[in-house]
This record gives sequence, structure tokens and C-alpha cells, in this order.
Amino acid sequence: MTTLPETSPQTFPETTHGHIDLSAREFWTKPPAERDAAFEVLRRENPVAWSRPADSDLLPPEQNLRGFWSLTKHEDIRFASRHPEIFSSAQGITMEDFPREILMMSQSFIAMDAPRHTQLRGITLDAFKPRNMRRLQSWIQGHARDLVSEMSHLGEGDFVELVSVKLPGRIFGSFFGLPPGEIHEKTISAAQRTLGWTDPEVRGDLTAIELFAGAVMDLHETVTTLLPERRANPGDDLLSWMVQAEFDGEKMTDDELKAFFTLLAVAANDTTRHASAQAIYAFSQFPAQRDLLVADIGGRIDAAVEEVLRWGSPLLHMRRTATQDVTIRDKEIKAGDKVVLWYISANRDEDVFEDPMTFDITRKSNPHLAFGGGGPHFCLGAALARTMLRSLLTEVYTRIPDITATEPNFQVANFINGINSLPATWTPEGTRV
Ligand code: HEM
Repeated sequence: MTTLPETSPQTFPETTHGHIDLSAREFWTKPPAERDAAFEVLRRENPVAWSRPADSDLLPPEQNLRGFWSLTKHEDIRFASRHPEIFSSAQGITMEDFPREILMMSQSFIAMDAPRHTQLRGITLDAFKPRNMRRLQSWIQGHARDLVSEMSHLGEGDFVELVSVKLPGRIFGSFFGLPPGEIHEKTISAAQRTLGWTDPEVRGDLTAIELFAGAVMDLHETVTTLLPERRANPGDDLLSWMVQAEFDGEKMTDDELKAFFTLLAVAANDTTRHASAQAIYAFSQFPAQRDLLVADIGGRIDAAVEEVLRWGSPLLHMRRTATQDVTIRDKEIKAGDKVVLWYISANRDEDVFEDPMTFDITRKSNPHLAFGGGGPHFCLGAALARTMLRSLLTEVYTRIPDITATEPNFQVANFINGINSLPATWTPEGTRV
């Protein structure tokens, strides 16, 4: 039986196409085109839709009782993102609810409101400024070049295994201050497992909580191991900045540091990993777009990266909780209701994007919401992610321009738009006639 919060109306996303059940795990096993079609119907017929509690094993069934509103229009998602006083992040940022203690251990300032959000986010601002990102650019390019050199002669292979998994690990290892070797491997592997709690392949025999909590504990252990040394000999890396940072004369506690590190490690690794796989898949589905890029990489790469982000929407949603009653379109959202912002839908909104179901790197305007709808939680790593995609795609399409992926193995997930493996073929570098 579906139980709705007492404050919420008994509405469901009924459409002329029947009941679109975003809460069902089964919905998230559908191919992307089918999901896109469902969101298209919602945008047209029921753009602010109520859903039953999401299928989830993060909480015992008797505690998983809260349904959620879905915002599917670009305009509404921007509105909610820019009004944090009405749409709070403090009760969680995914449509599935996590146990409170797990939320505290793992989500840090992404799951906070002002003023603490502003303070903790402030610690990272220097590190993520575009000026610093530009400094990192040649270094990121080096990693991209090395990785493509390691696979370009093979002619075939799983792009995810050969490149997507490795690139964020190499880049963020040094950025975060991880020493090479076991700690590095363990940390990056944990960061890339964390968001796979809904995917049977990532979970294996573990329950959702065992997978998530296990990965988070591994990330905490990294902080515990490295903290004493970083306190004694701070370097030029994120962990060192974190231990030194002060707000109102106070440093972060060890628990705050662990959650902060967990947030950054997960936010940086999994998103960029899947974004690079989404890019290769998109250009394989639309070879004419790949030819356009290859013909003028320098001139088209920036627009191509934006289109990859729009098309791939590496994070499918973020969630807020209403702090007061608010009406969006004709729907009365009550204080305490969960509100999910579907970026994947905003990025296909026909009121904003011409021919949204086509991957088109020549779009004149591309105000996608892949990094959020603006407002205080806008992605901190946007410049870094863009730099990484720009460098990688430039390397790939300069050196193995005919790379073509076949059928991806998509992750079963309602939060991350993941690709677990992506078989591909290409003419080995240096053998093209
Ligand atoms: C293609 C890659 C990426 C995508 C699509 C992405 C997307 C997002 C989105 C949608 C949000 C939430 C925005 C909101 O709630 O309004 C977010 C927040 C965040 N992202 Fe990213 N991200 C990416 C890469 C990165 C990287 C590389 C880093 C770090 C190096 C990073 C760090 C963060 C952090 C720390 C937040 C929380 C910001 C806050 O709450 O103030 N992200 N990201």
C-alpha cells in the first residue's frame, strides 16, 4: 500500500500515457530513450507531479513513507534552485531517503542550508576558482594524453575501463593529496562505488546500505590516515587546505572533515567518469556530429562539451524539501514535502531547447542545467569538469577519431546517469591511411 504524507494531495503522475511511475526501480532499468519519452509526457501533461515513495532499501519499509513532487520544467527547476529559503537541502538531496546518520557522515555541505553551507563551501572556493582551474589545465591534459596513449593502439576495448574510470582517479588523486599506491587505489575505488547503491552489478551481494556505508567508511579511513601528517606538514592539496581552514576562529572537527572529503571525492569522481562515457556514446549515436567535431576540434570543442553535458545529464536529479507552503503551476506543495528537480528533464525541455531530442553541438544557445539550476548549491567543480571533458575529447578525437561505441551497459540508477561498460572499436593510432 502507498502511504502519502498527511499534508500532501493524493495525486499521481497520471497522463494520457498511463501512470508514469518514477518511484519504481523498474522505470530506471528502461533505456534512456524510453525515460526521455516519459519525461516529455510529464512536462506536457503533468509538469509538477506527485509520486508514491520511491522503491528503496535504504530505509526499512515502515520508515520509507514519503512520496515526492517532481519538477520537470526548466523554469521551475531554476526557480527552486534559486530559492533555498523555500527549498531546503538539509533533509537530503536524493529522492530516496538515507538514514540520518549516513547523511551526516557522507553529504556535508551539499545537504546543508545557510549559514553553515556558506561557511563550509567557502573553504573550497579558492581551490575551485577558474584561475586555478586554468593552472591545472596543462596537467589535466597530460593525464588525458597518457591515458589515450595507453589505449590508442589497441583498436578495441571497454572505454569505461580503459579511460573513464582511470582519468578522474589520476586527476583527483593529486588534487586531493592522495599518496600514490594503496590509499589512492582504495579511495578512488570507494568514491566510484558510492553512488551505485541501486545497481545490482555494483552492489554484488551487498545491501544498499552495506555498499554505501562501506564505501563511505573507506573514504573516512583515508582521512584518518592522512590527517596527522597533513596537519604537521600541510602541502598544496585539498586535504591540507581543509585542515587549515578556519571559520569564526574555528577549524572543522574530524567528523566534519571526513564528511567534507567524502562529498568532494564522490562528487568529483563518479560524475566525471560517467560524463566521459556519455560523451563517447553520444558521438557514436550521432556520427555526423562526431565528423563536425573532428573537422574543427579547436573551434567546436567548447560547444561540444556543453552539448555532452546537456545530453548526458550525468546527475539525473537533486532533491529539496519545502520549508513552507508554495504553489508551483497549479500544484500546492506543502511545508515538509520532498521536491525532486529532474535535470534530465529540464535538459530536454522543448520550451528552452530547439529539437531537444537531437544531440547537436552547433546549438546557438545551450542553457543546460547539468550543473544545477543556479543558486547556492551550483556545482563547485563545473570548471574542472569542463576542463577535463575538453582535454579528454580533444585527445580522443584528434588521435582515434573514428572511435565508435556499441551498446552501453547502463547503470540501474535514479540519481547518477551511469554507464558501467562501453565496448568500442577504433582504428589503432598510426595505422590510418
Ligand atoms: C560532469 C561532471 C559534474 C556534474 C554533471 C556535476 C553536477 C552537479 C550538480 C547537479 C550539483 C548540484 C547543484 C544543485 O543542487 O543546485 C553539483 C554539486 C556539487 N558538485 Fe558537481 N558535478 C560535476 C563535477 C564535479 C566535480 C569535478 C567536482 C569537484 C571537484 C564537483 C563538486 C561538487 C560539489 C562539492 C557540489 C556541492 C555544492 C554545494 O552544495 O554547494 N562536481 N554538481
